[in-house]
Amino acid sequence: MLVTTFLVALWATAAVCQAQASVRCPLVFDGRIPSTVTNTVFDTASSPFNPEYVKGKDLAFSSMVSLPASQASRFEENDTKAVGISINDESIFQPGDPPGQLGFRRAEFLYKANNGTDASATGLKTVHWSVQLDPSKPLNLSHEYMMVWRERNDFSANQFMFQTGSLLYNTSVPKDNWSVVGKTNNIIFTTPVSKDGWQNFAVSLDQDKNKLRVYYSVGNGQLKLVADSVVNDNSGGGQFHAGLLKKPTGTADVVNAGYQETGIDEGVIYGSLFVEDSAGQCVSL
Ligand SMILES: *[C@@H]1O[C@H](CO)[C@@H](O)[C@H](O)[C@H]1NC(C)=O
Ligand SMILES: *[C@@H]1O[C@H](CO)[C@@H](O)[C@H](O)[C@H]1NC(C)=O
Ligand SMILES: *[C@@H]1O[C@H](CO)[C@@H](O)[C@H](O)[C@H]1NC(C)=O
Ligand SMILES: *[C@@H]1O[C@H](CO)[C@@H](O)[C@H](O)[C@H]1NC(C)=O
Ligand SMILES: *[C@@H]1O[C@H](CO)[C@@H](O)[C@H](O)[C@H]1NC(C)=O
Repeated sequence: MLVTTFLVALWATAAVCQAQASVRCPLVFDGRIPSTVTNTVFDTASSPFNPEYVKGKDLAFSSMVSLPASQASRFEENDTKAVGISINDESIFQPGDPPGQLGFRRAEFLYKANNGTDASATGLKTVHWSVQLDPSKPLNLSHEYMMVWRERNDFSANQFMFQTGSLLYNTSVPKDNWSVVGKTNNIIFTTPVSKDGWQNFAVSLDQDKNKLRVYYSVGNGQLKLVADSVVNDNSGGGQFHAGLLKKPTGTADVVNAGYQETGIDEGVIYGSLFVEDSAGQCVSL
């Protein structure tokens, strides 16, 4: 009897978990990868993302991208799939003169139409991502990682960040937690990193009222509001990043100096990458 009840409960949970969800609100940027896309597409104008930024200057996105056969994340369509992105010793971004940002190792997707002053810089917008670790390319959580964030158009700050590892500015957060962090490095939401499976996040940026909300779920679960009405300076527009930025250890000048071990091959897998227009409080859950 008890066993039957348990099995029925289990079956009900499984049934709920299998339901994918549709995006409910108007899409501003869609970074979901069509099933037909191959690695080389990420080097071309047909990429869902900017093929030039952000990456090591001598690397092509095709060499950093993987297309794993993961189970679809919550907001994938039947004809879209997950994408992995990785960093190695050559992932040194050089925005100006040599030698570039020697402190960082970076590889990040930017939405192609997200030029910093586009429509995403106004009103209420929600950025979504699902994330899981890549067991074949483990991170070194002794370092701080930035994974998803929006950088102001004047490059002076990030309005929010999604991070893991050893946060240089807050050593009390366990290194194997994900954290959603506000503009002043305030920890808004933190939760343990799963060993496998999807964890789904969404951040709503109210750019009129300077308020921020965080939504979260596991697997194919419906997103739940986990932080509401957080005061946050969302001004300044900018670009949404999704990828890996690994900071060095042992320096105050994280951009240019510090320690990075050599021979790295570290990656992470994303799904359901998109930004939606939350006018009228619309959010896909
Ligand atoms: C995916 O395909 C199934 C079966 O054909 C269909 O019922 C479902 O609506 C589709 N889902 C999406 C998100 O297109
Ligand atoms: C940025 O994109 C918007 C919307 O497409 C466009 O109106 C604007 O001219 C673009 N700005 C630059 C600097 O390219
Ligand atoms: C992880 O990073 C720390 C700090 O930089 C370093 O001492 C250690 O050797 C790294 N571990 C691996 C496996 O590379
Ligand atoms: C570090 O984060 C915790 C929340 O996880 C917070 O309580 C604490 O005040 C933060 N410390 C600093 C120095 O910001
Ligand atoms: C890490 O995540 C756990 C689970 O959500 C949470 O209880 C804990 O407070 C987090 N750690 C810190 C220091 O915030």
